[in-house]
Amino acid sequence: MSAKYLVTGGAGYVGSVVAQHLIEAGHEVTVLDNLSTGFREGVPAGATFIEGDIRDAAKWLDSSYAAVLHFAAFSQVGESVAKPEKYWDNNVGGTMALLAAMRDAHVRTLVFSSTAATYGEPVSTPIKETDPTAPTSPYGASKLAVDHMITGEAKAHGLGAVSLRYFNVAGAYGEFGERHDPESHLIPLVLQVAQGRREAISVFGDDYATPDGTCVRDYIHVADLAEAHLRALDAATPGEHLICNLGNGSGFSVREVIETVRQVTGHPIPEVVAARRGGDPAVLVASAATAHERLGWRPARADLAGIVADAWAFAQRKG
Ligand SMILES: NC(=O)c1ccc[n+]([C@@H]2O[C@H](COP(=O)([O-])OP(=O)(O)OC[C@H]3O[C@@H](n4cnc5c(N)ncnc54)[C@H](O)[C@@H]3O)[C@@H](O)[C@H]2O)c1
Repeated sequence: MSAKYLVTGGAGYVGSVVAQHLIEAGHEVTVLDNLSTGFREGVPAGATFIEGDIRDAAKWLDSSYAAVLHFAAFSQVGESVAKPEKYWDNNVGGTMALLAAMRDAHVRTLVFSSTAATYGEPVSTPIKETDPTAPTSPYGASKLAVDHMITGEAKAHGLGAVSLRYFNVAGAYGEFGERHDPESHLIPLVLQVAQGRREAISVFGDDYATPDGTCVRDYIHVADLAEAHLRALDAATPGEHLICNLGNGSGFSVREVIETVRQVTGHPIPEVVAARRGGDPAVLVASAATAHERLGWRPARADLAGIVADAWAFAQRKG
């Protein structure tokens, strides 16, 4: 059945792909985005666009919306260490205003973009939702604070909420892909080398306790992620805050990613080994068992070469 959704941050990478999936599923979509890190052309054709801030969501939210999908946030880990106040203000303050607007407008369903960064250094692998949360950056802490806020909102005021804790989102979906500035994600950075926009890729540490010494991460295709959001809308239950990890459950090392980019692009991709970065765990891999059980979701595009090929096609289109 067709419904009307508010997508905050729908001019950004993940929000635009999810908005496009909602439109393709026959829903009505309004994107609310202040374009602080997003792009006007990232808003899918067919969505209504409001250039505005989530802190002013009360101006636009009304009971005609079935749910809010909340992507709007700042998400640069390094910047959050240098300017923590910026992250508390936007991610936490912004979400507090959004939740108040939802309460006033009687919009009682929320899907929130949480992150693997809420866990910090994992105590075991793969990471489960019941594992300890000890974020190592203000970014991760701000996202964890929002998760706690949502838990309270669900208990006290009957919100039906699903937090999706993404691991490393990658790939592209048609016109919609990754364009962070500055870019901090591995696959688009390596692709910049293939495009001649960067001379070499830095490998931060090659002496980790992993098979090839470089960090291992769980890469999930953005279109798989989008499908989980549509399922989360159906799974949201009044009074419950469900938290689900979203990942493929298998990890790839930095060197495996670089090698895959070499194969996909045919470029030699020079690499330079640099010092480890503080707060980079050796291995971050998700257990997505809860998403399987509660959302009936399984990733369909887990092949790394396919993920890289989609990201490469997008990067070439965007120049
Ligand atoms: N990309 C990843 O690998 C990843 C991993 C884990 C979690 N996440 C989370 O997913 C969400 C989307 O990430 P992304 O990679 O698409 O980031 P992005 O920067 O591309 O998108 C965020 C969007 O939110 C908008 N925005 C920010 N603050 C706003 C505000 N106050 N009011 C209105 N709009 C605002 C920005 O303009 C941008 O369009 C974020 O919440 C991020 O923390 C992303």
